[in-house]
Amino acid sequence: MTTAHDEATAAASGASATERFKSDKLLGVENTPPERVSALAREVLEAVHSTIRKHKVTYDEYNALKAWLISVGEDGEWPLFLDVWVEHVVEEVATEHREGNKGTIEGPYYVPDAPEQGSNGAVPMRENEPGTPLTWNGKVTSTDGSALAGAKVELWHADADGFYSQFAPNLPEWNLRGSFTTDAEGNFEIRTVRPAPYQIPTDGACGKLIAAAGWHAWRPAHLHVKVSAPGHELLTAQLYFPGDEHNDDDIASAVKPELMLDPKPVSGGEAIDYSFVLDPA
Ligand SMILES: [Fe+2]
Repeated sequence: MTTAHDEATAAASGASATERFKSDKLLGVENTPPERVSALAREVLEAVHSTIRKHKVTYDEYNALKAWLISVGEDGEWPLFLDVWVEHVVEEVATEHREGNKGTIEGPYYVPDAPEQGSNGAVPMRENEPGTPLTWNGKVTSTDGSALAGAKVELWHADADGFYSQFAPNLPEWNLRGSFTTDAEGNFEIRTVRPAPYQIPTDGACGKLIAAAGWHAWRPAHLHVKVSAPGHELLTAQLYFPGDEHNDDDIASAVKPELMLDPKPVSGGEAIDYSFVLDPA
């Protein structure tokens, strides 16, 4: 049996993620002092050196590493590799001062400028979109408790087969991607469907590492969000569903207890209630 996603490949998904990332990311660090660049580069290299000494890495292993690193680039998987195995620590350091909501990693599949759906609406989806319908009510407030009217809640997530629009073929451009704006009381209501757990692409370089190391490639089901309001820090988060077998061993190490939803069965689907507290910038 074939599905709409048969042509989903690591190379296609990776090329898409790499293309999106090739923008002006270097501009944000153009004034970094050489001392900091030197310290970061030197300490990363020293960690590599000590791993080689500790494990007596052979020339065959060193050459395999070179070949593998080349294939990560050829498969367009640098965004995937870094977001799965490195970003969670960057996120932890960047947000440790916050008093408001916990966030987590962005991952490689965010696309800005999703269609605006107001304070109460559905994400764009196909007619008869597969998956349990989900109605999400929430509120955005500041750390002092005041409601944030006009806050933006951007939502993107995988479909019930575990695929993202714009990264897997045969899905409408903005499928399951929407941008919502809170009302005068800071409230929003979003209608979507429950996403499925998914494996990160396994047919490219990252998949080769996973297979060679005997790891698994699963991420638990999650909703991705970015929540923003003037004068406040941007919150990037993912929300998870209780009972998912990969909540405890997410390959991207991105699950936190504060990000767990509590879905309640309602007629025609499930209801969730999850609100956000933003830190003033
Ligand atoms: Fe995701």
